[in-house]
Amino acid sequence: PNTLTLTRPLVLVGMMGAGKTAIGGALARKLGVQFLDSDEELVRAADRSIAEIFERDGEGFFRARETEVISRLLDGVPAVLSTGGGAFLSEVNRKLINTKGISVWLQADLPLLWSRVRHKTTRPLLRTDDPLATLTEIFNARTPIYAHAQLSVEARPEYSIDDMADKVIQT
Ligand code: S3P
Repeated sequence: PNTLTLTRPLVLVGMMGAGKTAIGGALARKLGVQFLDSDEELVRAADRSIAEIFERDGEGFFRARETEVISRLLDGVPAVLSTGGGAFLSEVNRKLINTKGISVWLQADLPLLWSRVRHKTTRPLLRTDDPLATLTEIFNARTPIYAHAQLSVEARPEYSIDDMADKVIQT
């Protein structure tokens, strides 16, 4: 049993495929708090998939809604909040997350991320002719930005979802 009591929401950030949603769910269960997912809230509010939102309204529209959703979710009761991989990139979002919550970077290397996203077709940013090259570019551009998270936990292929949740609690 853990003895951690959340005073602020824990906000999971990091690349697509890092495990934010899966680990967030396990973490919330262990801490006995609500689990929230910004992508899921967005999909529910728009009644469309992320890919459809990107396609019909563009990434700019998605990012604006994402900021609104994160801001709203951070004002609720202490919870675990998983964000989309791009959520931590804007300075506005980073400030929101780091002041109202505690950011936790799930840090995974490129081979692990690729192994997890390569067979998925749900991520609009990877719908390119060369998704590995795209993922690599995104990874390189974002790594220094994720480093602004307040905590970081290394994800490895041999760590289970449960292990990862325990590691976050121990950090
Ligand atoms: C994005 C990641 C996705 C989703 C959208 C954009 C990104 O979330 O928000 O496709 O910019 O990295 P996941 O990190 O949960 O895949």
